[in-house]
Order: sequence, then structure tokens, then C-alpha cells
Amino acid sequence: MTRKVSTRHLAVELTAITDAAALASFRWLGKGRKKMGDGAAVDAMRRGFMHMDIDGLVVIGEGEKDEAPMLYNGERVGSGKGPQVDVAVDPVEGTRLLALGKPNSIAVVALSPRGTMFNPGPAFYMNKLVVSAQARGLVSINDPIGRTLETVARSLGKKVEELMVFVLDKDRHSDLIRDIREAGARIQLHTDGDVAGALMAVMPGTGVDVMMGTGGTPEGVLAAAAVRVLGGEMQGLLNPQSTAEARAVREAGFDLSRVLRTEDLVASDDILFAATGITDGTFLAGVTQTESGIKTSAMVMTGSSGTVRRIESVYTPLRHSQLEMQAFA
Ligand code: FBP
Repeated sequence: MTRKVSTRHLAVELTAITDAAALASFRWLGKGRKKMGDGAAVDAMRRGFMHMDIDGLVVIGEGEKDEAPMLYNGERVGSGKGPQVDVAVDPVEGTRLLALGKPNSIAVVALSPRGTMFNPGPAFYMNKLVVSAQARGLVSINDPIGRTLETVARSLGKKVEELMVFVLDKDRHSDLIRDIREAGARIQLHTDGDVAGALMAVMPGTGVDVMMGTGGTPEGVLAAAAVRVLGGEMQGLLNPQSTAEARAVREAGFDLSRVLRTEDLVASDDILFAATGITDGTFLAGVTQTESGIKTSAMVMTGSSGTVRRIESVYTPLRHSQLEMQAFA
């Protein structure tokens, strides 16, 4: 029997897991130690999954088993009792942002039915184009930048000069940045965090209209889950950044010229996507210490109903020495 993944019940449970990761990693905010922050979040997230009635298989995890002791690709998570799902996790998306106390670091998880998530294998990097629902079906990642920006502007009823493009601030993007500026659009440069960038591009009112450029392939799959629920579009081209990566990707049978569409990255509408802010960000507040306890802000998207819920929780320090465990109490 196939059981639905994107239920309201599992949606709320999923925010407990991203909350736990955010609460655990928050202790490392601004301390300059990204591995410690990430490790704490991974540990909390993994324990959280034990409380969830899913039969989960990690497709997008912390890496291969040899290097990642927990939440590694291929690991089974959940109680084993619920629906069979593919799982994508990024316990801290933006580990550097967390370590340096910068905005837009988030804890993220996505679920979809077993066999529906793109498995990137050795493909670490992907060139991405993300647009909102208005421009869906109108753009191509292979088009010149100027043409794409004109199309996006027209679909939004704006001038190209009014567009804001999210781009990761990386040396590899110097040509992209030049092309965007020559076309007349504006650029928001972020050192990290292109899952947040993709969300900004598809959600109204974030000040970002489109995301362009190369970031992680796993992050691309995670973001595609949210883009799909929100009715936007993501296109990707695997874009290896070293000869070793290029060789491994080719040997694994991937075609570098194939445009990966939203539906190729997550091949179902039965999606759950949850994110909790760790540091303050554009669409989610970070973990905050208040008089009544520690406050988290989460967002969870339920694909089957097209619902986006925002959940604020306050964790009052009662009996638990480890605050993140309260997320599951
Ligand atoms: P981490 O959370 O793993 O540090 O990733 C942050 C990130 O900026 C992603 O958002 C992005 O997809 C990727 O790194 C880009 O990788 P790189 O910094 O190697 O260019």
C-alpha cells in the first residue's frame, strides 16, 4: 500500500526535526566553528527522525558513509512504520553563515515518495536557474542571460532594471555577474546559502526575483522540493568544478548537457519541505532568546494541499537538559 507523504500530521512533525537541528546548532552561532555547529544539528536531526513514523531512505545527506557517521546517503531513518519516503536533509544549510553569525542559515528537510528524488551521486555542483510561478515554462537555462532576464521581467510586469538576482559570491561567477549587470539588472551577492536564494526567488515579497548560478547539487534537489510546491521553476545543468568531479560524473553515466527540470529533481507533488531559521533571514527569523524561552520560526510546505504553514514555537527550559529534545516531547 502506498501511503501519502504530505499529510498535515507529518508536516508538523517535520518542523520538530528542523527546530531540533536549529536549536542544537544555535549554540555555535558566531563561534567560528562550522563543523561543531553542523555536527550538533546532524545529531539532533537524526534523533528526531527516530520519533517520526516514516520508512525513510536518505538520498541527499551529509555525504558518503565513510565520511559521514550520521545521515549519510543510503541511511535508513524513521520508525519504519509510515510511508516509504526519500529524504533530503541539510541540518545546517550555510555552515559558514552560522559560524560567522551571518544571516540566512537554515535547517532544512524534504520528503517525497520513495524513488522520486534525483540522486546526484558524485555530482557536487550544478548550475541553477530559479524563477517564480509567473515565469514558469517561459525560460531556458541555455538562453543568453539578457533574454532570460527580459522574460522574467515581462512575466512580473517589471523592467529589467527593477529585477534583483540572487547570485552566490564566488569567483566562478565573474562572467555571470558581468552579464547580469550588462543586461541592466541588479544583483544580491551572498557568500552562501542558495537554498534560501531559491526560496527567495519563488516567494513573493522577498526582494529577489530570480536566482542564477552554480551551487551544490544536493542543495538543488532540496530547493527543488520547495520550488515545486510553490509552483515556481528550477532548471539545472550539472557543472563539475574540477577534472576529478567531471570524470566521476561522466563515469556515473550523467549527461552534462541534460537540463534537469523541477520534475526531474523531485518527480512527485506529494512533497513535504520544512525549514527552521537558525540565524535571522529574509523569510525566517533565527533562533531567538526571549524572556519566556527560546523561540524558533519554521515554515513547512505540504505538496498535496499546496499549503505553506508558518510555525513559531517557544521552548521553555523545563526539565530537559538538552533543549532540542523538547521539540519531540
Ligand atoms: P554548506 O552549508 O554545506 O556550508 O553549504 C553552503 C553553500 O553555500 C550552499 O548553499 C551552496 O549550494 C554551496 O555551499 C556552494 O558551494 P561552494 O561554497 O563550494 O561554492
